[in-house]
Amino acid sequence: MASDSMGFEKRYMRSIAELLGDQSLLCMSGDLHDVLRHRLSGLFTAESLCSTIKHFDALVVKALKEWKERETVFVLDEAMKITFNAICKMLISLERVEELEKLRKDVAEVIEAMLAFPFKLPWTRFYRGLKARKRVMDTLRNIIKFRRQGLDHPKDFLQSLLMKGESPFDAPLSDAKIQDNTLTLIIAGQITTASAIAWMVKYLDENQEIQETVRALHFPLEIKDPDTLLGLDVINEMTFASKIVKEALRMASIVSWFPRVALRDCYIEGYRIMKG
Ligand code: HEM
Repeated sequence: MASDSMGFEKRYMRSIAELLGDQSLLCMSGDLHDVLRHRLSGLFTAESLCSTIKHFDALVVKALKEWKERETVFVLDEAMKITFNAICKMLISLERVEELEKLRKDVAEVIEAMLAFPFKLPWTRFYRGLKARKRVMDTLRNIIKFRRQGLDHPKDFLQSLLMKGESPFDAPLSDAKIQDNTLTLIIAGQITTASAIAWMVKYLDENQEIQETVRALHFPLEIKDPDTLLGLDVINEMTFASKIVKEALRMASIVSWFPRVALRDCYIEGYRIMKG
């Protein structure tokens, strides 16, 4: 329901645009949105997904070892850390622990501010979120500057945005667009995936039979080659696990709201929706 042809347009609250940036994909519509979306789709190439899956697997294996030593584990908090690290590696190749931790805290403050009342007074969550956004922008600006000077050029999503492509759709993006959309992707990729993991753990705990089936089906895949990290080939063999993911996404509302504005009066299933 995002396109003009459907009679609706995406319209996030002004305060969200202030936090994510007005160049963010989430705050754009029409042609600008199409161009940006085309550029960002590079994130989902088979090569990028394949290396992310391996990194994600390594992070999960490391976390599971650490969890064994603990009495209590808060799955959502832990999943937020794993998905944050995975997405930062995928987007900007950031792996240094201290820098990751600083960025993670700043992004968490931006996320908290997204659902706060937009009062810009020094003691409010919204104000703290705006300050955190500025720190995130400074961090990303420095990383981009470093790359533009040719001092660092890992093969990642940021590098693909900095390079000019062949088609008009691949025109260079301004630093502001890259920064706003990197923050958007970190947030969009982190919370959604972490919530999905937390829901799946809950559902699998409540459905022991399914949990045993998935273990029985997938342990042999690991035993084939216990030292190798997961690749797309093995993921493609995990059809039962894929059904669990889809069912968890169906049962839990990961994204509970996505605002649209009606461009003209219309009816949906008998309900009258007025323009605006
Ligand atoms: C379980 C995982 C996920 C779920 C359930 C999910 C769900 C959604 C939904 C419902 C929207 C539409 C929002 C709107 O139009 O207002 C959306 C948009 C978006 N998501 Fe996800 N998402 C997931 C994972 C990810 C990941 C991993 C990334 C990137 C790394 C991502 C990036 C985005 C972006 C950039 C948009 C904006 C798209 C646009 O405006 O064209 N999402 N997602």
